[in-house]
Amino acid sequence: MSQVNVLAVASEVFPLIKTGGLADVTGALPLALAAEGVRSVTMVPGYPTVLAALKGAEVVWRFPDLFGAPARLLRGKASGLEVLAVDAPHLFDRPGNPYAGPDGRDWPDNALRFAGLARAAADVARGCLPSFVPEIVHAHDWQAGLTSAFLHYGGERRPGTVMTIHNLAFQGSFPRDVLGPIGLPPNAWSIDGVEFHGSVSYLKAGLALSDRITTVSPTYAAEIRSAEGGMGFDGLLRARSRVLFGILNGIDDGIWNPATDPLIAANFDARRMVRRGINKQAVQDRFGLARSPDALLLGVVSRLSWQKGLDLLLDALGPILDLGVQLAVIGTGERALEEGFRAAAEANRGRVGCVIGYDEGLAHQLQAGVDALVVPSRFEPCGLTQLCALRYGAIPVVARVGGLADTIVDANEAAIGTGGGTGVQFAPGMLMSGIERTVALWRQPEVWSRLRRNAMRGDVSWRRPAAHYAALYRELIDARAR
Ligand code: ADP
Ligand code: GLC
Repeated sequence: MSQVNVLAVASEVFPLIKTGGLADVTGALPLALAAEGVRSVTMVPGYPTVLAALKGAEVVWRFPDLFGAPARLLRGKASGLEVLAVDAPHLFDRPGNPYAGPDGRDWPDNALRFAGLARAAADVARGCLPSFVPEIVHAHDWQAGLTSAFLHYGGERRPGTVMTIHNLAFQGSFPRDVLGPIGLPPNAWSIDGVEFHGSVSYLKAGLALSDRITTVSPTYAAEIRSAEGGMGFDGLLRARSRVLFGILNGIDDGIWNPATDPLIAANFDARRMVRRGINKQAVQDRFGLARSPDALLLGVVSRLSWQKGLDLLLDALGPILDLGVQLAVIGTGERALEEGFRAAAEANRGRVGCVIGYDEGLAHQLQAGVDALVVPSRFEPCGLTQLCALRYGAIPVVARVGGLADTIVDANEAAIGTGGGTGVQFAPGMLMSGIERTVALWRQPEVWSRLRRNAMRGDVSWRRPAAHYAALYRELIDARAR
């Protein structure tokens, strides 16, 4: 089987820069693809943390003017990944997160910043680096979406293009007058091009002009073709159904391994579950909860946003606590939700604890110590925290949407009767009944132990998904050669 060369393009890659699951995916997939005969080089913006992490970086290309000033392409390695960083200080050398300044407001020139990323990717795709000429360009989310547009409108010779949707809610929409400055021709302004409801949408560019579209779970791939889940793109996605695929995410099972994880209080595995109790107590201590081994300890690790449905959890808090449940939350995001959880912790000392912030180590500790992890999302393209929970023996309690529906086997009576089940699913809007069922299962220690064993035994690694991506790349290369 011949090697396939892929240029992955993304605005985040773990551990160099991360705000969410996108970074986990782009940081882990290339490593798993190597076993499939795929060499994947990842292009990311040269944010300060990215440049600081690159080892042995060399300048491999210079842009005389990348939307406002000269820029360079640096090639280096970091955390086992081959990285191409777009070193463009006028676009990326800024404080704050990848998209917004320290005040939380999107940078006003995001249209140019991510056009810069895509322009650089398109140049590499066209062969500007003789030592790395990809057969496939794989763009992730709207920030990379223009790559396919630059290739589509830029002449004949180009590699195959794949666009992955991690979240249809982020569409990269900008006013029409960015079209000239980003260097797309006037005919790109069309319903078959980058125009979307009177704006230029970078996501639309990727969806309309890439050879293949993937998203991160089969159920989400179906949901986004409906008016309800399509967020305006359902018509386009229905029209492109034949080239749209849902491939589930995995997690890096080296980083997420309870038997070796250096970030947790006590290592454990399915045969040494007693030691898990040490982690439960550590979480109770850290979150100011009563040290009670018998209380069902429920956890949340999440961005605090409307998507994640955590306002529904706050609304149901009274009845949940009446069941004797404890709650530990780590999250950051919308001010109202942060305040809501702070107030809930204040009002229910010893029973609710929260840490508002982003803390990778604490996320591991929480997964290792809580009995169950609740994910009440309104929509969820895939979701990774429920996969981490499975691996760490925290029973996922999830809304039956998107990738949550695909990754958790509901412990209903039929499943329990046959020794199956890995978690609890509830119909959207039925969080309270999901919690009640979870408490009922918790009160049957043998059933609970079996669920936990099932959860920990499953394969949530990148092995199978990487094989799917590799097959997709090869199919596309074959199709284009015909
Ligand atoms: P999304 O990408 O929509 O935020 P995912 O479940 O796909 O959701 O991925 C979230 C990732 O971010 C996971 O790796 C999770 O552990 C991590 N994460 C989310 N919130 C926090 C937090 N407050 N602190 C540490 N890690 C977090
Ligand atoms: C997005 C989605 C999440 C998914 C992640 C990685 O952030 O919200 O469901 O797991 O991307 O694909």
